[in-house]
Amino acid sequence: MSTVYYTATTLDGFLADPDDSLAWLLRQDLDEAGPQNYGAFIESIGALVMGSTTYEWVLAHLAETGEAWYYAQPTWVMTSRELPAPDGADVRFAKGAVTGVYDDLRAAAGERDVWVVGGGDLAGQFADAGLLDDVIVSIAPVVLGAGRPLLPRRLDLRLEETARNGAFVTARYRVDGPLTEDRTG
Ligand SMILES: NC(=O)c1ccc[n+]([C@@H]2O[C@H](COP(=O)([O-])OP(=O)(O)OC[C@H]3O[C@@H](n4cnc5c(N)ncnc54)[C@H](OP(=O)(O)O)[C@@H]3O)[C@@H](O)[C@H]2O)c1
Repeated sequence: MSTVYYTATTLDGFLADPDDSLAWLLRQDLDEAGPQNYGAFIESIGALVMGSTTYEWVLAHLAETGEAWYYAQPTWVMTSRELPAPDGADVRFAKGAVTGVYDDLRAAAGERDVWVVGGGDLAGQFADAGLLDDVIVSIAPVVLGAGRPLLPRRLDLRLEETARNGAFVTARYRVDGPLTEDRTG
């Protein structure tokens, strides 16, 4: 039962370009049965939480492709606004401190993990509260120079696993806590 931030990133630490485009990501070579593959990962997940930019990207992608809502698990969207939910999707809206939704996420996830989908600041909010256990990244062979940051915090991580999947370097880290230099006492 962990809270995990699982995402793809550019080598220079961006989740999306400044216009929220993922075109650089979606064209990469990927082995769907390879290390850190999405199919195995999503089986381990009992609840999701995402920020509103990510949610609106998903909604726009579904509208463009005609696909249905992807997630069988309950999904919390952090937003201060009123947003629509797709028909039949278990989407719940929340705002404010992530500690306020954590118990609900954990309860919904049961024995499985909670997936912090992104963006980076939301993962940072969980880390700030000491509630982020793992960071699992697939690093695309792309640098963007600017965009939406992967995890805009100062943290020490411990490398647990690395592999290659198609064009990606995959890595799993354990979150140790605030950067050693920032710790007091
Ligand atoms: N590379 C990948 O695999 C990957 C993974 C995830 C996301 N992405 C992309 O990366 C980008 C991330 O965008 P982003 O950095 O803007 O982050 P985001 O977390 O998706 O959205 C940020 C917004 O969520 C709302 N929010 C966040 N925390 C909140 C809280 N505690 N209470 C209330 N509202 C809260 C706020 O908007 P409002 O209050 O105004 O609604 C905030 O501006 C998106 O383009 C997404 O599609 C890529």
